[in-house]
Amino acid sequence: MSYFRANIELLDGYMPGEQPTDPSVIKLNTNENPYPPSPAVLRAIAAVTPEQLRRYPHPLGNPFRDVAARHFGVTRDHIICGNGMDDILNLTVRAFSGPEAALAYPVPTYTLYAVLGAIQASVVREVPWKRDYGLPIDELVQADGRVTYLANPNAPTGTLVPFEQVRTLAERLRGVLCIDEAYVDFADQDCMELARSRDNVLVMRTMSKGYALAGLRFGFAVGHPDLIAGLMKVKDSYNVDAVAIAAASAALTDQEYFRQTRDRIVRERRRLAEALAGLGLDTLPSQSNFLFTRFERPPAGQVYESLKARGILVRYFNSPGISDRIRITVGTPEQNDALIAALKDLLR
Ligand SMILES: Cc1ncc(COP(=O)(O)O)c(C=O)c1O
Repeated sequence: MSYFRANIELLDGYMPGEQPTDPSVIKLNTNENPYPPSPAVLRAIAAVTPEQLRRYPHPLGNPFRDVAARHFGVTRDHIICGNGMDDILNLTVRAFSGPEAALAYPVPTYTLYAVLGAIQASVVREVPWKRDYGLPIDELVQADGRVTYLANPNAPTGTLVPFEQVRTLAERLRGVLCIDEAYVDFADQDCMELARSRDNVLVMRTMSKGYALAGLRFGFAVGHPDLIAGLMKVKDSYNVDAVAIAAASAALTDQEYFRQTRDRIVRERRRLAEALAGLGLDTLPSQSNFLFTRFERPPAGQVYESLKARGILVRYFNSPGISDRIRITVGTPEQNDALIAALKDLLR
């Protein structure tokens, strides 16, 4: 007999991308930022005092909430901090869904939603995207989740649903709409306005991608104070630490640095997409810091293995509907050049 609940016993668990220890590997597999975080972040970390480490941090992360409130034009009460956005996702799944309360989302998408739903023994309703990754509004409304997740831009496709369609979905849903904007820093639009104006929308952000702080673990959500107050009841007492609060606050404050590195990545995204098109490859239109590219000969799984053998790591999902594509994080110009050269060779 197992000690675990049946749903945990059956669970495969979330499978994170590989983190190789060899520093010479060109790592284009987990959508990290290829540039370091702002120098202001390192200064903020160095300025943390022994007294700050001896004491517990602010339980709600208020120093960060105040910086974010000014940045997004909301109040501190509209913001909850998390140990990465994954922590925020976990909180929302636990707060809104369960065996009697469905969780819905379009697929394919970020696979953590399914894992968290399974842990919570929630009713999970997966709705296929429309052709070309259009938003299946009617089908999601019919799925009637107490909570609906929308990764926008979506992962692993990189595609973006226009604001007006997201607004229509939010208006028609009876439950909460959680908009996962992990990659929005690289997109032409965001849905923060819905978090300010509606009582059933949470916009979730991470400092891992646009702010180059994946190792720090800091995410947050913005929404109506009633939603935020409910989530506060579910979180760990001190879910963000003193170092992370200081570093994330410094990163969000340094918008000049953020814009410079973001613009470089967006320029490289365009150049890499053009180079892939030049090799005759089909890539979905991306509003994120990665590209989702189709391979026929050799097939995607083989391309993944061959690149890995050459010291270039990309992400391959052997799952229905997407097993013919590879997800490639946009790297530095030199990393992208190495990838393009390797692909030219492989496709010859
Ligand atoms: C769509 C999406 N949402 C959320 C996250 C989690 O971000 P964090 O690093 O803040 O936990 C990721 C991470 O890759 C992601 O791809």
